[in-house]
Amino acid sequence: MQEAKRLAFLNDLYGLEGKTAVCIGGGGVLCGEMAMGLSMAGAHIIVADVVEEAGRARVQAIEQQGGTAQFFQVDVQVRESMVEVTRALAVQGRDCDILINAPGVNSKKPFLDVDDDEWARIIAINLTGVRNSCQVFGKFMIQHETHGSIINIGSVTSFCPLSGVSTYCVTKVGVVSLTKSLAAEWAPRHIRVNAICPGFFPAEQNRKVLSPDRVEAIMRQTPQHRFGEPPELVPTVLLLASPVAGSYITGAAYSVDGGFTAFTL
Ligand SMILES: NC(=O)c1ccc[n+]([C@@H]2O[C@H](COP(=O)([O-])OP(=O)(O)OC[C@H]3O[C@@H](n4cnc5c(N)ncnc54)[C@H](O)[C@@H]3O)[C@@H](O)[C@H]2O)c1
Repeated sequence: MQEAKRLAFLNDLYGLEGKTAVCIGGGGVLCGEMAMGLSMAGAHIIVADVVEEAGRARVQAIEQQGGTAQFFQVDVQVRESMVEVTRALAVQGRDCDILINAPGVNSKKPFLDVDDDEWARIIAINLTGVRNSCQVFGKFMIQHETHGSIINIGSVTSFCPLSGVSTYCVTKVGVVSLTKSLAAEWAPRHIRVNAICPGFFPAEQNRKVLSPDRVEAIMRQTPQHRFGEPPELVPTVLLLASPVAGSYITGAAYSVDGGFTAFTL
């Protein structure tokens, strides 16, 4: 087959030219990589993160690979900070075609040591924050009649808990449950809502919850016997983001975890 024909086929399926993708947590390791992939597929990227330095660095990386991106400082706990983004999008004549919700914090300790402040902080960012973002950007999509795609980031703990991170596990179950509720509620609005549930993708941000014993246990439980590499999340993001490739997919929670949640003994 002619190369041009093959490329056109792939571009029709996965191309995101003219689309805008809002990446919440885009200064982070996983969402940053997702943002790079969405940009390679043609989307304009809004990197939205509470940490300015990391967000701006990601914008620079996207520009260096030939894409376009803007940074907005948002705190998912503060709805107004995200409303500001929708105002800016409206001024620029942009829709929110793709929304990735990947803000995340974690802390490893026994349940009895989790005080009210810590419980509240993790729930506020990982779960209420995703709810806030879905409300703000979902409303914007509905007002603009955008046939958009929302991708919420769960975890293996969306399906089965891990020891020592009980609050985090609660939030990730909630993220998938919210994803399914919104998929049903917004299907008549032509908004698709899905989750990606990554396995273990270690970097600086989560090294503190990965002791050598835990790493060994994870490897025993992972049929592919290795950690994930952030670029391995990109194809699933492109599938769910594309209105063509992902047209009939909503309410799904995709595991990208080397088989971790497929396996017990
Ligand atoms: N890395 C993994 O192994 C792994 C596995 C499963 C799920 N996840 C999930 O993937 C997502 C990304 O994780 P990561 O590993 O890239 O971590 P990360 O720390 O690199 O990224 C998280 C980003 O969220 C941002 N953030 C934190 N609080 C925020 C707030 N209040 N408002 C806006 N942004 C905020 C951080 O600044 C950071 O840039 C998280 O939801 C995490 O729970 C990660």
